[in-house]
Parts: sequence; structure tokens; C-alpha cells
Amino acid sequence: MDFVGSHILSIDQFERPDIDRIFAVAVLMEPFAQRKRVTKVLDGAILGNMFFEASTRTRISFGCAFNLLGGEVRETTGIENSALAKGESLYDTARVLSGYSDVIVMRHPEAGSVAEFASASRVPVLNGGDGANEHPTQALLDLYTIQKEMLAKQRQLDGLRIAMIGDLKYGRTVHSLVKLLCRYKNIHLHLIAPAALQMPEHLVEMARANGHTVHISEQLEGSIAHVDIAYSTRIQEERFGSRAEADLYRGKFRLNQSVYTQHCEPNTVIMHPLPRDSRAEANELDTDLNENPNLAIFRQADNGIVIRMALFALTLDVVDAIDDCSQAVGWYTGSRFQ
Ligand code: CP
Repeated sequence: MDFVGSHILSIDQFERPDIDRIFAVAVLMEPFAQRKRVTKVLDGAILGNMFFEASTRTRISFGCAFNLLGGEVRETTGIENSALAKGESLYDTARVLSGYSDVIVMRHPEAGSVAEFASASRVPVLNGGDGANEHPTQALLDLYTIQKEMLAKQRQLDGLRIAMIGDLKYGRTVHSLVKLLCRYKNIHLHLIAPAALQMPEHLVEMARANGHTVHISEQLEGSIAHVDIAYSTRIQEERFGSRAEADLYRGKFRLNQSVYTQHCEPNTVIMHPLPRDSRAEANELDTDLNENPNLAIFRQADNGIVIRMALFALTLDVVDAIDDCSQAVGWYTGSRFQ
């Protein structure tokens, strides 16, 4: 695909060479993310960071990624703090905000809303998550993480064995990740969820149509026995009619050190898009795994910076100019990336 000026709305847009290109640019971004070098390549550019639904990682990492390229960030959070609360349409909001910004990132609770917004925008729009539909940049950073973790074991992505655990119906990160894995070969997907929260059928069919094997289960222990990646997810309480309804499913699949030791192959990589629900009644990924070297969740979150920098650099066409505008970092950078 031609990235320049493009919206990034869905994994459907990408073929495998596009993913390779994003990952190759992400590698170029590593010295900037690791605070070894700084660049001003986007000096004067403005990101409109529009988060109409709660976020910690996606909002802050998109903003930091833009700052690390030298750009400025203007943002709004919550529908209640925007004119959408006064009945303004997504069309009008997009027409206005795209006059203020060079690129926009948007998260919104309704599926399809970011694409609707993008259709009226005069600048590229990147999907930061639209309802239960997709979270394409999360899937890209997830796969970038998986690739790094597998390469450390001299393994490729083709042939990957991955368990997706938890709320696969409403979890948009796993929807995008399944689509992304359809660009690879011979993937073994283990989908572990309550029957009512299983992966949407069209995504299961897509995986099978691409030649992948799909195992569907409601039982955690036996299903994580032979996987490279155990990808846990949170019950997406905000998509349920009530908290009581979400409570029916919360805490059903708890991965902790004891379950890991008894049931996983050694060195199975543990992932989660975060936030993990650490309340006692949920605790889907126990804090007793925090010192387990195979817990990749914070490496995964760190990788959000380079992936999002790469997407800005590609859509705004500055990849080849980055190094010319860069210099070594002059301040203490400590041990934060160890
Ligand atoms: N993974 C993710 O989307 O996290 P946030 O909701 O904190 O942005």
C-alpha cells in the first residue's frame, strides 16, 4: 500500500509486505524510543489526539511517539468534554479538527465510528480503537513483540502457536490480531473463552480459510499446554449491558505462576494488551508472574512507541529525513529500557 496520506483504520488494509515495511521502519525508530537519539523531523506538525473513550497506553504512546518525532500534540479526552456531547456530528467534528491538525488519532466507543470520521477528514486518521471492532495499531505492536520474542528463540512467525484467552467477543485487540496473523502461514490458534464470549465466527472462518488450525475451548489448563504465546485479555466490562453481566465471566481464566509452571511449556511467552484487571474478582494475569522473564507485557507496551512512530513517519512521508534531523541525546537516560 501507499502509506503517504493514508488513513490507518483496519488490518484489512495491509498485505504482508506492508507489515514488513512498518516493522522495518519501527526498527529505525528504536534509538529514538530508547532515548539514544532525538529528532525534530516533525517540527511544526500537530497531532490531534482525540480519545472519546478511556485510554492510558494508546493515548499517551501515540502522543509520545509524535513528540519523539519533534511534533506537538493537542488532545481531547471523553465525549463529555467535546462538542459531541452537544449533538455535533462526527462529520462536522472531523471537518473542523482536520483543519487544526496534520494527522489525527481517534478512539471512540462505537464500531465503525473512526472510519466514518476519517471519511470527512482532510488529514490522515489513525484508528486508536473503535468499539469492539478493531485496534489495528495494538495488533501491529503485538505482532512486532511476538516477532522479537520468537526471533530470540530462532523462530519465525510462520508456524506460530498462540492461545488467545478471555473475552474474544468484545476484545478488539484479538480481532485485529487474528486478521494480522492471516497474513502468515500455518498458524495454530487456540481460542479459550466462555462460549458466549468466543471469537466472532467470521474471524474464525477467516483464519481457517487461510489454512490455519483453530482450536476452540472453554478450558484454560489443557489448552495452553503447547503454545508459544499465551495472550490473555480482560473481560471488556464497558461493552456489557451491566457490571453484573460482566461479573458472570470475570475471573474464569486466571493465569498465575502455578498454572504456568504446571501447564505451559518452559519459556511460553505471556502477553496481554493491558490494562489487566488486577481486582481480586478478576486477576486474569496474576502479579505473581511479574518476575517471570517470559512475561512480555511491559516490553509489549514499550513497543507501542516504535510502531506508532513508524506509522506517523510513513503516513507523513518523513522516513528518509529522520536521521538528517537527529542528534545524540544529551541528558541522563538511566536504565529504563533494561
Ligand atoms: N492496550 C490499550 O489499548 O490500552 P489503553 O486502553 O490503556 O489505551
